[in-house]
Amino acid sequence: MKAYVYREYGSADVLKLTEVEKPVPKDNEVLIKIMAVSVNSADIRYMRGKPRIFRLMFGFFKPAINILGADVAGIVEAVGSAAKKFKPGDEVYGFLSDHGFGGFAEYVSTTEDQLVKKPAGIPFEEAAAVPLASYTALAALRNKGNIQPGQSVLINGASGGVGTFAIQIAKYLGAEVTAVSSSGKEELVRSLGADHFIDYKTTDFTKSGRKYDLIAGVNGYHPLSHYLRSLKDNGIYIMVGGKNPQIFHALLFGKVSTLFSNKKIICLTDTATGSDLDFISELLVTGKIKPVIEKRYSFDELPDAVRYCDEGHPAGKAVVRIN
Ligand SMILES: NC(=O)c1ccc[n+]([C@@H]2O[C@H](COP(=O)([O-])OP(=O)(O)OC[C@H]3O[C@@H](n4cnc5c(N)ncnc54)[C@H](OP(=O)(O)O)[C@@H]3O)[C@@H](O)[C@H]2O)c1
Repeated sequence: MKAYVYREYGSADVLKLTEVEKPVPKDNEVLIKIMAVSVNSADIRYMRGKPRIFRLMFGFFKPAINILGADVAGIVEAVGSAAKKFKPGDEVYGFLSDHGFGGFAEYVSTTEDQLVKKPAGIPFEEAAAVPLASYTALAALRNKGNIQPGQSVLINGASGGVGTFAIQIAKYLGAEVTAVSSSGKEELVRSLGADHFIDYKTTDFTKSGRKYDLIAGVNGYHPLSHYLRSLKDNGIYIMVGGKNPQIFHALLFGKVSTLFSNKKIICLTDTATGSDLDFISELLVTGKIKPVIEKRYSFDELPDAVRYCDEGHPAGKAVVRIN
């Protein structure tokens, strides 16, 4: 089969189209013929090997895994003897980032736990845009943030892969949503349901005096103390991603910073369960969420899709058709 293999850290130029062995599913695995894959921030981090300290996990001198691609949608072609959930011919989608990636290829073999049946009527390309970003938004807002109807929620970094789902999920959960991104994305985030919009290039929301029940730092560019002052009593700041110093600060000092406060800082480090993905499927089928796909690419153009996400500020997701 054909796959984009990378053997050194760097830009999208390190992704080389290569003929490799088609995988054979182990007992607990299923073999998927991949129809579409989307690009995630996780692919970029692994490709670049940054921040460097993460190379302790990614492979110190060279990448430990060689085929990236976390979010896939495809058709089950074969199943291992102990695989119970799916049978050949099932249309599935899900994410592979907890099981070694592998989606930048024509086929992947993976365990069943982070795959679910693709709802009929949702095209493969749309399904591939959904899993990791929507799960991250759901985990931040519902599982960790426990949003209640009527609460005020600010999403810092609202127009990218995670943020576009976060707006829709927060609205579904009944929140009043403030979206923060650059001005060119205002129409998009409002169309997804945002009640208020702040352009981070002109306005620092942490200085406005307005307070929120929950702030999701999808791109957490502010110091933790600034987030804390923008939270109401009992408010929660959830660190999803952002600049490396903010991520490490939240991981190392998040709990200590709120020791004598009724506010909380939570770092999102969860992994999804099948039931989370089933819930997401329900939201998709009922039209409560829809993926925002800014760009679509062919398999030959896959490095361009990765380059676009690496260099630019995508609105929603970039998706690659494979088969
Ligand atoms: N913790 C987890 O489990 C988990 C899982 C998945 C992803 N993540 C992390 O989540 C983060 C976001 O991922 P993504 O895929 O949504 O990224 P993305 O698609 O690149 O989106 C980034 C968003 O941040 C905005 N932004 C850029 N600079 C900003 C600033 N200074 N202040 C506020 N917003 C700013 C962008 O707006 P403009 O485009 O308008 O500039 C865009 O809305 C990444 O750091 C990723 O590693 C974490």
